[in-house]
Amino acid sequence: MPATTPDRSPGAVTDGAPMIDAQGIHKRFGSLHVLKNVSLRLDPGEVVAIIGPSGSGKSTFLRCLNYLETIDQGRIAIEGETLASTSAQGQCSYAPEREARRICRKMGMVFQHFNLFPHLSVLQNIIEAPMVVKGLTAAEITPKAEALLAKVGLSDKAGSYPARLSGGQKQRVAIARALAMEPDIMLFDEPTSALDPELTGEVLRTMRQLADERMTMLVVTHEMGFAREVASKVVFMDQGELIEAQPAREFFAHPQHARTRAFLEHML
Ligand SMILES: Nc1ncnc2c1ncn2[C@@H]1O[C@H](COP(=O)(O)OP(=O)(O)OP(=O)(O)O)[C@@H](O)[C@H]1O
Ligand SMILES: [Mg+2]
Repeated sequence: MPATTPDRSPGAVTDGAPMIDAQGIHKRFGSLHVLKNVSLRLDPGEVVAIIGPSGSGKSTFLRCLNYLETIDQGRIAIEGETLASTSAQGQCSYAPEREARRICRKMGMVFQHFNLFPHLSVLQNIIEAPMVVKGLTAAEITPKAEALLAKVGLSDKAGSYPARLSGGQKQRVAIARALAMEPDIMLFDEPTSALDPELTGEVLRTMRQLADERMTMLVVTHEMGFAREVASKVVFMDQGELIEAQPAREFFAHPQHARTRAFLEHML
């Protein structure tokens, strides 16, 4: 038996493969063991919410999935293609760099603090990555960018600069920007927690629309209403461990673990 899972050829699509398959993930920052044997699988069209206290490793887990951080142990496969795997001897290795980057382009990511380019207009923010990464011309990608702006309700802001936008508008631009790369999966890291409460609704509505279109989504959130109503599955993390993962209704009605119950009592 080979020690590592073989990488698939570029572009290979595996029927029935999970969109995200993370198995036995360990991550350390120096002596700090931040992810402890975390496993999670997302099927096509699933919306999974990750909740948990500050410092429990939620962002680190998301960042490991799309190679913004590297794991120390475990296996990550995206749509059946292996990004990282670990040998029987415990040696973790990644797909070659170009291959790894290509695999990760299946995922778009939206951050808490938007991370828009301040010196570029809204439209330029959206067309930048398709031009740089995919080699498209501005003329080729602009109609798509305009359609995405319409989708997030910001057609009138194409020429505006981020500094002139509200937080909710910036976050919707960030979502449009991620979608411009045509990802199959969207990762969200607390997309509404930097927003004033009156602005969270517009962002959650955009996310709900994506979920209705069967986008596969993994969402770190403190929005229990969103988790309850939109997520198919809710995951609770604490101190680097995945404590439980349940269908959303089950999760809120019958949390299995005392730590989950304590957290929910604190949140609700
Ligand atoms: N680059 C890094 N270097 C060292 N330690 C880090 C780094 N990034 C995160 N950590 C540590 O890893 C742990 C998990 O952090 P992480 O940001 O994943 O938590 P989180 O669950 O997203 O928290 P929050 O809800 O506050 O965003 C924390 O103890 C944090 O201080
Ligand atoms: Mg975080």
